[in-house]
Amino acid sequence: MIIVTSNKGKYAEYREIMEREGISLELVLMSYPEEQLDTVEEVARRSAEFLRNVVGGDFFIDDSGLFIESLKGFPGVYSSYVNRTLGNEGILKLLDGKIDRGAEFRTCIAYYDGAVNIFVGKTRGVISTEIRGRNGFGYDPIFIPEGEGRTYAEMSTEEKDLLSHRSKAASAFINFLKKKKI
Ligand code: IMP
Repeated sequence: MIIVTSNKGKYAEYREIMEREGISLELVLMSYPEEQLDTVEEVARRSAEFLRNVVGGDFFIDDSGLFIESLKGFPGVYSSYVNRTLGNEGILKLLDGKIDRGAEFRTCIAYYDGAVNIFVGKTRGVISTEIRGRNGFGYDPIFIPEGEGRTYAEMSTEEKDLLSHRSKAASAFINFLKKKKI
């Protein structure tokens, strides 16, 4: 199975999840244009439609975003830009003094096998009051998943996989692949 991404952190997480299921994963390391649409599903679908003419054969991509409730869903589909510009410090500043720190991480997988198939995973949680942990990537040091006291960045990849938005989308995707084989 081919994953197209410029993010080695995503690749590492998928490799762990998929190889456990006996699916070997090949990385095509490249960035591609991401249109600014309203949902991660639309962004992922559009990117897969663009890439089908670039990558030979079947592949999948992952479009993810962090949706913070008191900011009306921001950064959402702008998560990548905001991570590069404001960063985690900037998000904490925006939430300074806010009591509601609820947030949701969403992943959308778009798998192209002649048609685009969409799989979504969501994990609710809260934004921490400080940057914590060294593992993972992106917003991991400020996202505490529901039922946990630790940020994603304070967990091992295996621990993050047990509850992450990405692993939920990956499970739905793997079920689809298994059904397709039968
Ligand atoms: P994209 O899916 O590459 O567009 O990701 C949007 C932004 O969210 C990027 O800045 C990523 O680093 C960040 N991001 C995506 N998935 C995760 C995750 O699992 N943990 C933390 N940050 C993430």
